[in-house]
Amino acid sequence: MCGIVGYVGNDQVAPILLKGLAKLEYRGYDSAGVAVYDGTSIQVVKSKGRLKVLDEKIHGGADLSGTVGIGHTRWATHGKPSDLNAHPHSSESGRFAIVHNGVIENYLELKSFLAEQGCHFISETDTEVVAQLLDFNYHGDLLDAVITTLKKIRGSYAFGILCSDFPDRVIGVRKESPLIVGLGNGENFIASDIPAILERTRDIYRLQENEIAVIKADGVTVYNMEKQTVEKETCHIDWDISAAEKGGYDHFMAKEIMEQPKAVRDTISPRIKNGRIVLDHISLTREQIEKFNRILVVACGSAYHVGVVAKYIFERFTHIPVEVDVASEFRYRDPIIDKNVLVLVISQSGETADTLAALREAKRLGARTISIVNVVGSSIANESDDVLYTWAGPEIAVATTKAYSTQLAVIYLLAIYISEKIGVMSEADYQFYISELQSLPDKIAETLDSREHIHETAKQFYQKDDIFFIGRNIDYAMSLEGSLKLKEISYIHSEAYAAGELKHGTISLIENGTLVIALATQKRLFEKMMSNVKEVKARGATVLGVTTYGNQHIEKESDFVFYVPEICDMMLPSLAVLPLQIFAYYVAYLKGCDIDKPKNLAKSVTVE
Ligand code: G6P
Repeated sequence: MCGIVGYVGNDQVAPILLKGLAKLEYRGYDSAGVAVYDGTSIQVVKSKGRLKVLDEKIHGGADLSGTVGIGHTRWATHGKPSDLNAHPHSSESGRFAIVHNGVIENYLELKSFLAEQGCHFISETDTEVVAQLLDFNYHGDLLDAVITTLKKIRGSYAFGILCSDFPDRVIGVRKESPLIVGLGNGENFIASDIPAILERTRDIYRLQENEIAVIKADGVTVYNMEKQTVEKETCHIDWDISAAEKGGYDHFMAKEIMEQPKAVRDTISPRIKNGRIVLDHISLTREQIEKFNRILVVACGSAYHVGVVAKYIFERFTHIPVEVDVASEFRYRDPIIDKNVLVLVISQSGETADTLAALREAKRLGARTISIVNVVGSSIANESDDVLYTWAGPEIAVATTKAYSTQLAVIYLLAIYISEKIGVMSEADYQFYISELQSLPDKIAETLDSREHIHETAKQFYQKDDIFFIGRNIDYAMSLEGSLKLKEISYIHSEAYAAGELKHGTISLIENGTLVIALATQKRLFEKMMSNVKEVKARGATVLGVTTYGNQHIEKESDFVFYVPEICDMMLPSLAVLPLQIFAYYVAYLKGCDIDKPKNLAKSVTVE
């Protein structure tokens, strides 16, 4: 949610900022801007719209001279997307310019205080208030001004700060929003995410809460709020820039869909050694696991949908009751939790504000926490008791695919691991499920082979206004993800329903030609699903069934079918989700939608 980049070095800064921002557009793309110190004062240029509008306005950055600057790509929270509300924001004197990712909760209070002191505001944003407050608190010492300001604000933030009195530096600071420092040769950076600076350096570190980085060309010093210096350990990034590029595909989403066999293999393989699941990073003992009387899964968006699948898997495999909560709801429902509850937190980015807050709340209440996270060193990974990384690699498309699949893979690993540890799963079943798990990457690859058939099918439906997804049990959980994928990138209205529940109201929306996608992968519920399919067909629906190869019975009831390979029931979601992702992709493609950057969305949601 909002992308920040900052640079101090010897090269012209504006083109570097634009290049960095291009890699961060997945975080927000309703406006963009840069602030550059040109040798005399800070120049700010910003515009509503995609980054290319700004790029054209400043001719690829050539119009702005200077080697120190900050840039921003925005996902609006306070104030609609407009030139004025775009970042950077300046203090009235022009001494400070700042970029911000996050939300300042007490900005109205601060704004009226500053107005009483004579400040004038030109935007509707919370960020402008911070720029003015910095100036108000500035009495010649930049670090003091930053610390005094941070003490006055409430909320979440990553800031990049320029001050014309100190034109050789950029300040970076964060709380509850990510910010990394990049260390180059005679040049240093701040950024919201690694791809923004990877072309110029591979040595980074992540700032922790309220650490203040002073970035200069010849070095970086990090301070805490007491003005003491903090030692940071540098981490070398070894993945290649191509991992964050399209590599010949039309869209990141297409590339990431096709990367799923590898991502799932990378996530599973290192954790199965000599036929046993080894979770090196889980410090839980058998005795501790035996004491858990409940598992609670907390997440947002697609990660929440993984949680819904996880409920079925954990209950079947471990016999421990499972609850699943949307993180934003969990936070405020006074959850009943104690040390005998295992809280599983799922997040691709590891920075989602509500999920992070839910993790903190769970810890405060004494729960044991495990996170399933894709971004190494992210806040959620750092703050949970144990972390299981998904090895999906960087995911750029806003609509998640490979992160979702690797999260599911970790759920299988953890459920089988716990089940065996507490003696619920027999050795024979343990061996069976491990071999099923090991077959998953190849079966994912086999499922992806049918993408052309799915493309052809999408041609029949891309002009629909409403599409319904139905399923039972674990197929219901899949319906949620299928429906979300479709609506987020194709803007077609879609709903997911437990198949047996449809008749309690929503079936009234089914009319001649309405497309109903019926997930029917679970053998023991197949007949029941077919009854529900008949109900919608009787009301004129066109039915697209999803089931396993060999289950031709579905053809009697469905107009179209997507088949997936056979695997044990509990792992079928990993295969059934693939045609749904591909279908959503082609529907959006045929509609001409901006697939990687759907309107109103952002990949990393660092505000409540
Ligand atoms: C956003 C993304 C979703 C994602 C959700 C949770 O809404 O668009 O794809 O599932 O955030 O993100 P997280 O990083 O916590 O998995």
